[in-house]
Amino acid sequence: MKLSIHDTKKALPKTDLVCVAAMEGKRLDLPAGVKIPTPARTDFKGELRQTRLTDASGGPARRVLLVGLGKAVETDAERLRRMAALAVQEADGLKLARASLWAAPAVEIAVGGSEDAGRALAEGAVMGAYACTRHKGKKEEARLRGATLCWAGAAFRRGAKHGEILADANLFARDLQDAPGNRMRPRDMAAAARKVAAKSDRITCRALSEKEMARLGMGSLLSVSRGSSEPAYLVHLTYKPRGRSRGRLAVVGKGLTFDAGGISLKPSAKMDEMKYDMSGGAAVIGLFHALARHDVRYEVHGLVPTSENLPDGKANKPGDVVEAMNGTTIEVLNTDAEGRLILCDALAYAVKKVKPDAIVDLATLTGAVIVALGHELTGVMGNDQKLQDELVAAGKAVDELVWPLPLLDCHKEQMKSKIADLRNINSGQGNGSTAGAAFLSSFVGATPWAHLDIAGTAWGSLERDYVGGTFGTGVGVRLLMRWIEDRGR
Ligand code: BES
Ligand code: MN
Ligand code: ZN
Repeated sequence: MKLSIHDTKKALPKTDLVCVAAMEGKRLDLPAGVKIPTPARTDFKGELRQTRLTDASGGPARRVLLVGLGKAVETDAERLRRMAALAVQEADGLKLARASLWAAPAVEIAVGGSEDAGRALAEGAVMGAYACTRHKGKKEEARLRGATLCWAGAAFRRGAKHGEILADANLFARDLQDAPGNRMRPRDMAAAARKVAAKSDRITCRALSEKEMARLGMGSLLSVSRGSSEPAYLVHLTYKPRGRSRGRLAVVGKGLTFDAGGISLKPSAKMDEMKYDMSGGAAVIGLFHALARHDVRYEVHGLVPTSENLPDGKANKPGDVVEAMNGTTIEVLNTDAEGRLILCDALAYAVKKVKPDAIVDLATLTGAVIVALGHELTGVMGNDQKLQDELVAAGKAVDELVWPLPLLDCHKEQMKSKIADLRNINSGQGNGSTAGAAFLSSFVGATPWAHLDIAGTAWGSLERDYVGGTFGTGVGVRLLMRWIEDRGR
């Protein structure tokens, strides 16, 4: 979906449909020259998500869609994103190729300024038009190809451009997520990362092979992929900023392209959803998709350990002991706690080879985080309060909510093994998510680090018009970009 921006200082060009955002209890503001019949005006109250489609009674637009934002005091970026999403979905339903989106200056103010409004409209329009049709055999019908955002001013344009980049990157991540396991294998994750790197001369990509990983001593990661005929990779993306760098950041994403559990086999109900176990990796590659078009002031390293987790004659057996890159030995008591086994080597690699100022990992690590926080909040744990606070703030700013969970010495204590240094599960204490984080904490040393458990938020969250519902959410892409940008301010 392509966006264009129309300068409202010029008259609105002829259009099949103009979609107008309207607040409850405020006078309905229409673009200059656009006229609608009185009943449409009076019936429409501007209530949240209320829509009214009408033929125009004059002016450059053939039809007009009014979309409600609810009360002015409650109008925010989230509501404008949803408005834009509803608008493009209506336009798509009408089989139109293009639609124009318009929001009055009063809406701009309510959202927090024209830059934020431009970003929200662009994000909503692009993300709202997502449809997972790639895997359908029949050719898709002609769909909405573009939207025109109408506004005046450089700030709006800047926001819209930024929003479009973020939304495109979010959809890129969703495409990776939604692809089934047979079409999104570790090698396909690596290919996606290479494709992203090829778009920018500031991004490079290296995918470490199993041979290279063996040479580095990544016995933990390799013990997971041994149970699969698909070779694992450690994808390493690097972004170098244009000017002087403010520092070095590492983002690490779990790229488990299918998690059957291994010998500790999962139940078959909903096992298909485990194609989404690469969502952390998708977020990292999605972030680089955005970095290819939007400069930040940090050197950013993206690491995606990618593998399958399957039962096989060569697979990990419960009780096996493996050794990670940093020399830590791990007792694999449950082969289904494999995310931490591939992440720990990626974290150790980040610490040793990248030496970043901070590490953030994203992983669909535990079902337990869904019990704790449900599908609308990502859990954050770590060893650095400030870093966790930054992520909570970034989440609030982009409406991908992040909530803190503790990580205490008692949790680390639970992860000690009798036979090895660590065990990969605790035993029946119930705190699944903090146990996972405690395990990972052993591999970052003193580097400030935060762990985002996105098992709840990567898919299966509430329908919010532009995100949520049936498919992957692309969670993490907009969050990480916001985190990096706010850090660089
Ligand atoms: N990928 C799963 C976590 C998961 C489960 C995400 C359900 C989303 C929905 C992870 O690899 C896993 O299997 N974790 C186990 C850990 C347990 C064995 C300690 C879990 O959560 O059950
Ligand atoms: Mn698992
Ligand atoms: Zn998993």
